[in-house]
Amino acid sequence: MTEPDLKQFDPAGYRSIVFFTGAGLSAESGVPTYRGHGGIWAQYNYEDYACQRAFERDPVRVLDFHEVRRTHVLKCPPHAGHRHLARLQAAFPQVRVVTQNIDGLLQRAGIAVDAELHGSLWRQRCSRHGLREDLEAGPYRQRQCPDCGSWLRPDITWFEDAVDGAVFARTQQLVAGCDLFVSVGTSGVVWPAAGFAQLARDSGARMVEINLENNEASALYRHRLRGPAGVVLPAAFPLAD
Ligand code: APR
Repeated sequence: MTEPDLKQFDPAGYRSIVFFTGAGLSAESGVPTYRGHGGIWAQYNYEDYACQRAFERDPVRVLDFHEVRRTHVLKCPPHAGHRHLARLQAAFPQVRVVTQNIDGLLQRAGIAVDAELHGSLWRQRCSRHGLREDLEAGPYRQRQCPDCGSWLRPDITWFEDAVDGAVFARTQQLVAGCDLFVSVGTSGVVWPAAGFAQLARDSGARMVEINLENNEASALYRHRLRGPAGVVLPAAFPLAD
C-alpha cells in the first residue's frame, strides 16, 4: 500500500466530482457504523431486524429497531466534515453527492444529495399506496397505512432487497461521467453499491479514498487519505474563507 497521500485537490480543476459516502462519514456525529468496532451488525443480526423476511415475521420488532435508530440519529448533529462538504457544494456546482447512508445527516447539513442508494430512515412505504416522509421524531407517526391498514415498511434497501433501479441508474450516469471520485467512510464491501468505485476508475476519474484504514477496495484508489472525515475533508479540499 502506498503511504497516505497528503495531496490537496482544487474542485475548480474538475468538470464533475462525485462524493460517495458511507457510514464512516456519520461516525464523528455519533452514528454507529455497520462494521468494525461497535458496528451495528456486531450487535444486531440483520436477519431479525433489517430484511423483508423479518418485517413480515415480526413488523413490530423491526419498526421498534428502526425507531431506536431514528431517535438516536436525531441526537447526532452533522459535524465539520458535513459542513465543509455543504460549503464545497455551494461553491462548486459540479460537486455531486451519492450516499449509502440512511441517516439523513447530509440533508440536515444542507447538502443536496443526488442519490440515497439504500433509502432513508425518514421515509416509509406502503406496498399499495407508495412512499410517505416521516421526519418529525424518533417514533413513527403511523405504523400502518391509513388507506389500507398494512404495515408501513421503512423505505430502506435491506439485505436481500432489489436495489431501486432508477436511483442506481442515476448514480451510474453520474459516476461514469465524473473526473474526480471521492469515497468517504465506506468499507466498500456491499454490492452493487461497491461497484461504483470500479466504474469510476474504469471511466478515468481521479480516485480519492478518505478512510481511517485500508479496506478491500483501497487498491482502486490512487490517493488514500487516512484520517477522520471531519478532519480530512477540509484539509484535502480547502476553501478560501
Ligand atoms: N472517518 C472516515 N472513515 C471512517 C470513520 C471516520 N471518522 N469512521 C469509520 N470509518 C470507516 C471505516 O474504516 C469503514 O471503512 O468507514 C467505513 C464504515 O464501513 P461500514 O460500517 O461497512 O459502512 P458502509 O461502508 O457505509 O456500509 C455499506 O452496508 O450494512 C450495509 O446498507 C448498509 O449502507 C450500508 C452498507
